[in-house]
Amino acid sequence: MPDNLLEVRVKSNYTYKISKLRNNTMNIRTETFGITNEGTPVQLFILENSQGMQVKITDYGATITSIITPDKNGKSGDVVLGFSDVAGYQSEAYLESGPYFGAIVGRYGNRIAQGKFTLDGETYSLATNNGPNHLHGGIKGFDKVVWAAQPLPDQNALQLTYISPDGEEGYPGNLTTTVTYTLTEDNALRIDYQAITDKATPINLTNHSYFNLAAGQAKDVLEHQVMLAADRYTVVDATLIPTGELRPVAGSTMDFSQPTAIGERIAQVEGGYDHNYVLNRVNGNLQLAATVLEPTSGRLLEVFTTEPGIQFYSGNFLDGTLTGKNNTNYPQYYGFCLETQHFPDSPNQPEFPTTILQPGETYSTSTSYKFSIQDQQL
Ligand code: GLA
Repeated sequence: MPDNLLEVRVKSNYTYKISKLRNNTMNIRTETFGITNEGTPVQLFILENSQGMQVKITDYGATITSIITPDKNGKSGDVVLGFSDVAGYQSEAYLESGPYFGAIVGRYGNRIAQGKFTLDGETYSLATNNGPNHLHGGIKGFDKVVWAAQPLPDQNALQLTYISPDGEEGYPGNLTTTVTYTLTEDNALRIDYQAITDKATPINLTNHSYFNLAAGQAKDVLEHQVMLAADRYTVVDATLIPTGELRPVAGSTMDFSQPTAIGERIAQVEGGYDHNYVLNRVNGNLQLAATVLEPTSGRLLEVFTTEPGIQFYSGNFLDGTLTGKNNTNYPQYYGFCLETQHFPDSPNQPEFPTTILQPGETYSTSTSYKFSIQDQQL
């Protein structure tokens, strides 16, 4: 008998095997994901629950490559963008367009103005890999390294660790980061981030999944209805660096306080949505930050986080040059991101919540992406 089945003996001497899971232990399968351009073999880890949800994660970039959930008719579909092997994440076209599909981005997710910040009297220079600014950790950020993976079957979780050496990409301090992905029985993919350092350093970790809740059954995400639990957003300049102003969304094209189709006002937003929203946070616990409903499939995504902000990105830079798994082409607006995070450029904006991790402290944040079905408009 497989050891995840409980055997129940009843008085009448019948033996029932029930599929109740002992300690919630789930088998985590591992497959090869290919060999990186640098010659390192990488793996794919497959988490499943008893509700028919499946999540695939590779140790390359601690990247989510696939999330399979049922629609309102019970038909399964893959709701994130990605590739079926590591070659897809290392192709010239991919590196050229830099979408960060499903990856953990760090040390600093989002932008740092001019790639510069001052800490304890010292000025640090980072790569400027996005116009004049630093983006998503630099040239070789956490999305482009191989993490050490440890399956935790008794928690239906995968723990990934990466040690970033002092000076890597210009950042100070040896930083040890652990990201734990847990698939729960109520169809949530929870991500717990932890880090420690031996010198003060900025840190802002997030996951960069692109969702398409129609699972390839629609040409883009413009009919998805988004709600963001945010009354304000950080106003940005032409290079997407915050000016410092936290502007109310009420009455503007930025207002998603009520569920609204992404496409409803996108034509009036220059460049599309690529903005950090200031969450209406009441405490540091996991709180509802966003909901997204795809009306045709009935799939509902709820995002909970401990973070103060969320970058809502409508896939503006996708341009059809990439073709992912199942031979699916990715044109503009084919996926959206909800990147839970601290605000962009926080190291240079003393009014924003701090992103500096000190030696002796533990960085600890959590985000949960929960999937369900809602067979009607929100
Ligand atoms: C984030 C940024 C965007 C873009 C994408 C990746 O969402 O805010 O401007 O860089 O990542 O293409």
